[in-house]
Parts: sequence; structure tokens; C-alpha cells
Amino acid sequence: MTHPLFDLSGRVALVSGAAQGMGRSMAIAFAEVGADLLICDLNEAGVRATAEEINRLGRKAIPHVCDVTNVEQVRAMFRRLDSEFGRIDVLGNVAGPGELARPEDLSLEVMQKIVYGLVVARFCCCQEAGRRMLAVGKGSIINICSIGGVTALGRGNFPYSVGMGGVAQMTRELSTEWSGRGVRVNAILPAQVTNPGLAERMRADPDLEGNFLRGIPMGRLGRPDDIKGLAIFLASDASAWISGALIPMDGGNLAMNAGGTPGPQALREQRM
Ligand SMILES: NC(=O)c1ccc[n+]([C@@H]2O[C@H](COP(=O)([O-])OP(=O)(O)OC[C@H]3O[C@@H](n4cnc5c(N)ncnc54)[C@H](O)[C@@H]3O)[C@@H](O)[C@H]2O)c1
Repeated sequence: MTHPLFDLSGRVALVSGAAQGMGRSMAIAFAEVGADLLICDLNEAGVRATAEEINRLGRKAIPHVCDVTNVEQVRAMFRRLDSEFGRIDVLGNVAGPGELARPEDLSLEVMQKIVYGLVVARFCCCQEAGRRMLAVGKGSIINICSIGGVTALGRGNFPYSVGMGGVAQMTRELSTEWSGRGVRVNAILPAQVTNPGLAERMRADPDLEGNFLRGIPMGRLGRPDDIKGLAIFLASDASAWISGALIPMDGGNLAMNAGGTPGPQALREQRM
């Protein structure tokens, strides 16, 4: 039996990065509790497959190809949302760029690209959703941030962490501007959640998974489906008086103040 506070029946969500990983899990979770969706990704086949999975649950899902770092494409996506659904209740701002580089080697072009993608383009998604939500006096925006947005990792995450710091502060500012008018804005801060890119890095560096796990008292890496419960909670009326919160989804990493937890060896080698 599900508590009615978690029900999203009759609501419409837009989720980015929905072809795989946390975006896919979030989109499916919203559909499982009754929402219809517009889902986007760069990966056309992947986002179509997620939409088909949602359709099999008996919910509507429109797959849409969009680069969320391109604000013209973001605005066009919201125009499509208007014509397909005419409303938005929930925004899951999941997709975003990331690149590993040590600050001393980093080109300013890469720095600009990552900060633009995470802060400016993510803000464009918040603004497009927020305008529509403010017009009806209700909505929930969920920004995927990172533990790297609130603590230093020291593992070559520099442009990503700086961008995610912007996402954390954008969440607090938008909440302060908008929550009095019915639009809640919260962020989820994952630690390491398995995905194909991370799996490849762990295969290439046999010490990396151990370094991650030293910072996770729960003793395992995250899985994409770990986001489901928290996403439903933040999207639904179950979190009606929660806004501006930065909620860790990290197996306990931030509580132990672990940051990136590079071992002394890794620190010496400046391993990324
Ligand atoms: N996995 C982690 O450990 C972790 C931790 C903290 C934060 N995050 C953030 O969470 C988000 C999702 O992570 P994940 O592990 O589920 O990733 P993932 O790599 O499994 O999936 C990301 C999805 O986003 C899509 N995508 C990438 N760039 C896009 C763009 N510009 N426009 C539209 N779609 C795009 C990809 O095609 C892919 O389907 C990312 O923003 C990531 O930075 C991840």
C-alpha cells in the first residue's frame, strides 16, 4: 500500500538525462507513482527505450532529443512540453557535463564549458520550468548536484565541483526567491553512483573503487535506483514544507566529512 502523499497521478514531470543512470531511474520512479513525462537525452535510442518502458507501466512518456547545455534546445524542449502537456509539475534536472582535469592544466575553454553547462544551462531549465510553475503557484524542481558541490574532492574534479557549487547555491537562491510562491527547489547530492563511465575508470585504476569505498561507511557504491525514493519524496506532496534542501544520497560520505578520500599514496601521485 502506498501513502497518498507520494502519489503523482495527474502530474507531469520533465526529466533530463533519462536514457540511463539516475535520470532513467528517476523518470521510471515518477511513472511508477502515476506521473506522465517528457524525458530527454542526447542518446535517442536510449531515451526511446526508457519511454517504452514507461509506456508499459501505463503512463505517457514523450522521448525528446536535447542537449541540455544548449539553451536554444532547452527552450524548444519546453515549447514541446507546452504543446504535448500544457503543464509542468516536476523538473528533474539530471544531465550535465563533467570533465576531469587538474586545475594547473585545465584550459579556460574547458572550465567555461563545464561551468556554463552546469550553471547557466541548468539555470535555463530551472527558469523555463519555474516561470510555468510560478504562473500556477505550484511545482517542484529537483537539481542533481554532487557531494563535490559542497565539499572538496581533490581528485581532478575541479571544473565539475566548481559548477556543482553553483548548482548548490542556485538551489538555495531559487528556493528563497520562489518557495513563497509555491515553487519548491531542492537538490540531491550523490556520492559515487555506478555508471558506465565510472566502471571504466575503476577498471583502469584498481585502487579507485577502494578509495571511493573508504569514504562510504555504508560499504557500497550507489546504484541508479537509489535515487527513486528520494526523487519521489521531493517531487510529491510528501515534501510539501521542504525547500532549499541539499540532501546527500551518499551512503554516509558527507557525515564522515570524507570528501574524495584519496589515500596518502593517491594524494602523492595526484591521481584523478
Ligand atoms: N554517478 C555519480 O557518481 C554522480 C555523482 C554525483 C553527481 N552525478 C551527476 O548526476 C547526473 C547523472 O549521473 P549518472 O551517473 O546517472 O550519469 P550517466 O552517465 O549514467 O547518465 C547520464 C545521461 O545523461 C545524458 N547526457 C549527458 N550529457 C547530456 C546533455 N548535455 N544533454 C542531454 N543529455 C545528456 C547521457 O547521454 C546519459 O544518458 C550527472 O549530472 C552527474 O554529473 C553523478
